Amino acid sequence: MKYALFSFFASSLIFIGCEPNANSSSEEVEVQIEEVDTVDYLKEGQQMATQTQMILGKNLMKAIQSQGTEYAVSFCSNEAIHLTDSMALALNARLKRVSDKNRNPNNKASEAELAYINQVKTAISEGKMAKPQLTKSGNKRIGYYPIFTDKRCMQCHGSPESDISPSTLSKINDLYPDDQAKGYQPEQLRGIWVVEMDKTN
Ligand code: HEC
Repeated sequence: MKYALFSFFASSLIFIGCEPNANSSSEEVEVQIEEVDTVDYLKEGQQMATQTQMILGKNLMKAIQSQGTEYAVSFCSNEAIHLTDSMALALNARLKRVSDKNRNPNNKASEAELAYINQVKTAISEGKMAKPQLTKSGNKRIGYYPIFTDKRCMQCHGSPESDISPSTLSKINDLYPDDQAKGYQPEQLRGIWVVEMDKTN
């Protein structure tokens, strides 16, 4: 039955093809079937990024509330990557946050990631929506998702003169001598989530 359906499909392709080809017969036709993912990886990745962001945010806010912003900088420095990695383990994917203006040198965007970041920035400057993106690479599916700043981020990523307190500033500068992640305003692109998933279907 499967075969019958297939040959019907193949011959109907010849029939509706625009280019007449004298040599083709239904036996010889090569039908190229584009592999379509049955899992919506763009959406799956988005959920993983959102979930991880919520865990990070919750822990960060708890650290700020319990022991202040300066302490939260050290907390973030010690825990952000660990928390992200343990979420990745639980979700059976690889997750990271990268930026064109990174604080941690390990979070520097690669060329492909930078290209996406620039694309988002252009879209925003043209008043368009920042869309996530999915790349296929062999058996991997890699999703990119924008991360925006809001008011809560300013005490550590805002202006060193007016938003970041002197004690927080010196903590940041101690831990990250090459920090590039200051000087942001709310609603700006701070970086992206990169979610790498193995194709399961
Ligand atoms: C208490 C200070 C603090 C606050 C508040 C804060 N961050 Fe950060 N952020 C940091 C530190 C410290 C790092 C470096 C973490 C590391 O070493 O992995 C960082 C790193 C990041 C990174 C990874 C890329 C990089 O630059 O290394 C992103 C993305 C990010 N922050 C986004 C945000 C957003 C969005 C907010 C607001 C919702 C926010 N942060 C609030 C301190 C903070």
